[in-house]
Amino acid sequence: MAGVVKPLVEDLIAAGELRRSLQRDVRKGMLAGHKMLPPVWFYDEVGSALFDEITRLPEYYLTRAERALLVEHAARIADLSGATSLVELGAGTCEKTRLLLDPLWDKGILASYVPLDVSAVTLQQAAFLLAQEYEGLLVHALIGDFRRHLGKVPKSPNQMFAFLGSTIGNLSTHDRAGFFSDLAAVMKPGDTFLLGADLVKDPKKLVRAYDDVAGVTARFNLNVLNVLNRELGANFDPSYFEHVAVWNEEESRIEMHLRATQAQAVEISSLGINVHFETGEALLTETSAKFTSEGIQAELARAGLGVDWWWKSDESEYMLLLAARS
Ligand code: AVJ
Repeated sequence: MAGVVKPLVEDLIAAGELRRSLQRDVRKGMLAGHKMLPPVWFYDEVGSALFDEITRLPEYYLTRAERALLVEHAARIADLSGATSLVELGAGTCEKTRLLLDPLWDKGILASYVPLDVSAVTLQQAAFLLAQEYEGLLVHALIGDFRRHLGKVPKSPNQMFAFLGSTIGNLSTHDRAGFFSDLAAVMKPGDTFLLGADLVKDPKKLVRAYDDVAGVTARFNLNVLNVLNRELGANFDPSYFEHVAVWNEEESRIEMHLRATQAQAVEISSLGINVHFETGEALLTETSAKFTSEGIQAELARAGLGVDWWWKSDESEYMLLLAARS
């Protein structure tokens, strides 16, 4: 075997920055009229492992549907993109990356793979594995945030930006518009954008996907309280909260909440605040938007991104879209 090939790992997040943004998010979210937390803070070590378990649940069709689409269409997507560089936004464990990398690699024109993710440990591990598997491929991992660091992505011709896993669903309508236009601004002619989006369907099926029988999603949701306890010296008692998943028809999104089962006061010592919950009060922990094919294409079009190709899964559960600057 050849010597160990190392990836390039570049950290775009300054020391202390993550903690400050957690503090800012929690202070703002806990003092709001309707309490809320952004979903990024789910993913500590325990939360990441629980999410991994979620992707294998019988009810959570998203990951399987997306993988099936990639298995079926990755070769075509590789041909259409002609990409010399794959940029994966919110790469996570790079689980599905190989499905895209393989056909690009086989074409013999792929020079670099650029995964970008906030989770440094996960990203580093994945980057090391891939650098060894694809000998000669430059793996340039960026520890960063896809909303703030698009401008730091090294440019190369015919880049394909991939944003998979339905992560787009976590953004509000307003933030999606901002993200799509920021992305369009860094894309050059010849670049492509591959997006994975979950589709509107029977609300019962949607709710089941976010409230599984085995209770894994409930544990995932409740775990965010442990994150606040550990990172901010809070004293949440997770046994005083229950997991709730609801379909919000007007907003076309699944919402996850933690509902207080009794009135309580929680101290968040590193913020110097006390937070009161009434019985039944809900803390909104995640929104997961669901799209129609027309709706998501219209959003992309408003940002100047034209969808030339799209593929829906067998039961029209999920779709992949390939867009370019129009
Ligand atoms: C990783 C944001 C795509 O919204 O489906 C899974 C996260 N939350 N189950 C999603 C999640 C609860 C997931 N995303």
